[in-house]
Amino acid sequence: MQIKGQVALVTGANRGIGRAFVEGLMAAGATTVYATARNPERLTDLVERYPGKVVALKLDITNAADIAAAAERCRDVSLLVNNAGINQQAGLIRAGDLAHARAEIETNYLGPLAMCRAFAPILKANGGGAIVNMLSVLARVNLPMYGSLSASKAAALSMTQGVRAELAAQGTLVVGVLPGACDTEMEPNFPPPKLPPADAAGAALDAVERGIEDIYPGDMATGMSQGLAADPKAVEKDLAKYLPQ
Ligand SMILES: NC(=O)c1ccc[n+]([C@@H]2O[C@H](COP(=O)([O-])OP(=O)(O)OC[C@H]3O[C@@H](n4cnc5c(N)ncnc54)[C@H](OP(=O)(O)O)[C@@H]3O)[C@@H](O)[C@H]2O)c1
Repeated sequence: MQIKGQVALVTGANRGIGRAFVEGLMAAGATTVYATARNPERLTDLVERYPGKVVALKLDITNAADIAAAAERCRDVSLLVNNAGINQQAGLIRAGDLAHARAEIETNYLGPLAMCRAFAPILKANGGGAIVNMLSVLARVNLPMYGSLSASKAAALSMTQGVRAELAAQGTLVVGVLPGACDTEMEPNFPPPKLPPADAAGAALDAVERGIEDIYPGDMATGMSQGLAADPKAVEKDLAKYLPQ
């Protein structure tokens, strides 16, 4: 599938990797990008930069009414980018209660699942299309300092595999993107080197064009993926040193 000529919808498009997705889609020749955010006023500059091509919409992926309204409005979408996510930077035992874990499951797993469900018939009607799910290499192994984030991304990885299987018959490509640390506001205190957001989005769009189902953009994710293939227990034990504060 070529990006040129596609109609895309990006969640969490106001900053970070989501904003880079909008810019990358425009550079690659997408016809229209529905740039969505909890606060669409933060999309004004993107709309002004790409007049008539970037359309701003309010969309909180934990809000069922917002998702239904977006699906009603954006019936021409052929590429869904489930980018929005949160990292509460919390452990599983040390966290005071389950609030962080619940929020991450709502945003990182149930929100993207609800988006896949809402847009599956639209993608089918438009010839199959593609879904990009922004996961994390921490979907493959738990980093205890982000213990509940890792668990929510593991759920999202399993969801990605199941959605891929269910939508195969309608010709929808489902791409899982598993980067390591990226240079955004999500992890400001994580030490460099961090992957530039444009590289994460660019790798994902390249995977769509080449029909690759799972990608690990950047050196950190590539190295961890290789380590997990060689000795998954050694990677688990290595990450076990990084405990929540
Ligand atoms: N940064 C990393 O190191 C890293 C590594 C691996 C994977 N990822 C994944 O990459 C994706 C993008 O992350 P990022 O680094 O660009 O993070 P970011 O800079 O913190 O941006 C997160 C985006 O998600 C939006 N968002 C959060 N909750 C939302 C909701 N309920 N509904 C709609 N939008 C919501 C935020 O909107 P507001 O501005 O309204 O908060 C923001 O636009 C996430 O799925 C993240 O888990 C990031």
